[in-house]
Amino acid sequence: MIELKKITKTYTRGAETVHALGGVDLSINGGEFISIVGPSGSGKTTLLHILGCLDRPTAGTMTIDGEAVDDLPEAALVRLRREKIGFIFQQFHLIPGLSVYDNIALPLRFSRRSLDREKILSLIEKVGLERRADHHPNQLSGGEMQRVAVARAMVNDPEVIFADEPTGNLDTENSEKIFSLLASLNAGGLSVVMVTHNPDLAARADRGVSLKDGRIVPQASG
Ligand SMILES: Nc1ncnc2c1ncn2[C@@H]1O[C@H](COP(=O)(O)OP(=O)(O)O)[C@@H](O)[C@H]1O
Ligand SMILES: [Mg+2]
Repeated sequence: MIELKKITKTYTRGAETVHALGGVDLSINGGEFISIVGPSGSGKTTLLHILGCLDRPTAGTMTIDGEAVDDLPEAALVRLRREKIGFIFQQFHLIPGLSVYDNIALPLRFSRRSLDREKILSLIEKVGLERRADHHPNQLSGGEMQRVAVARAMVNDPEVIFADEPTGNLDTENSEKIFSLLASLNAGGLSVVMVTHNPDLAARADRGVSLKDGRIVPQASG
């Protein structure tokens, strides 16, 4: 479904050059649940952003459902992102001035799709926030905010969800809830790619990818 070949990413900061990714080959198949682990600074977020078409590689090739995305103009990338990709961030990235309902509905507004009230309500129910639909993010716990973010990532019916340390700001109980939600979406056929520092959660994915210094390395056994 997504195929990366020899992906590199180089950042320049003034005179300094940072090689965030040094040649990554990776295939993500439909319906797979992949965990990505690695030390801080190893390129996990960079890789996830490239996979999610939030950023472009410096070199290498990438195809999504057989279509090369490297040379797509920005507008086509935006469309592809809306149609196929959901993204979840460690810091939730909810809009403070909007209710739970409106945060979840926001991607529909951006894609000028009709607002399907039933669908939004069913997503709210799926993530267990029926009694919070009218609340604002500052009235929610971290676990609840992340559940809003999961529902928002689902609203455009993506094929794949990318989650960058989605439980990094949550306690054990809420981490488990978020992981269970991702696992249930995966059981429904969605591909899930999750960056995590939690070895227990990482081990429960179908497959683990380990990054070090911008390259995929064999998984540490343990
Ligand atoms: N926008 C950026 N500008 C310059 N350097 C960056 C930028 N984003 C990430 N980096 C650098 O790239 C490397 C990989 O970062 P990142 O992908 O965020 O790693 P991880 O998510 O594994 O902690 C780090 O050395 C980081 O400092
Ligand atoms: Mg990161």
